[in-house]
Amino acid sequence: MESFHTQYSETVMEHFKNPRNVGEILDADGIGNVGNPVCGDIMRLYIKVKDNRITDAKFKTFGCGAAIATSSMVTEIVKGKTIEEALQVSNRAVAEALGGLPKVKMHCSVLAEEALKSAIDDYLKKNKK
Ligand code: FES
Repeated sequence: MESFHTQYSETVMEHFKNPRNVGEILDADGIGNVGNPVCGDIMRLYIKVKDNRITDAKFKTFGCGAAIATSSMVTEIVKGKTIEEALQVSNRAVAEALGGLPKVKMHCSVLAEEALKSAIDDYLKKNKK
């Protein structure tokens, strides 16, 4: 039988054990809140934006290991990206950057993509001219 560890890539395990960018940004320009009604996991993602570019991103996730690893990776991926570029970041890209996820855990990466989109949405709404 496959052990728990062999189902996950080393990168997933590394981001799960040492998640990057955990916390909140008190003066965030955009905040995204999402949840998965099936598993009950929730994710909050904060972004800081300057001149249309994401300069910082942090997260708080109450959820499974894959949700924590994907939150960690998505915050790393979007830092330095323009809003338009960040909107193109898909859950698949996040999962690929983690060296893949077991099929049953792909929905966790969807939560990370949705949290990012929700934070960008919040930023765009607040900055409507
Ligand atoms: Fe809920 Fe992973 S099991 S996000």
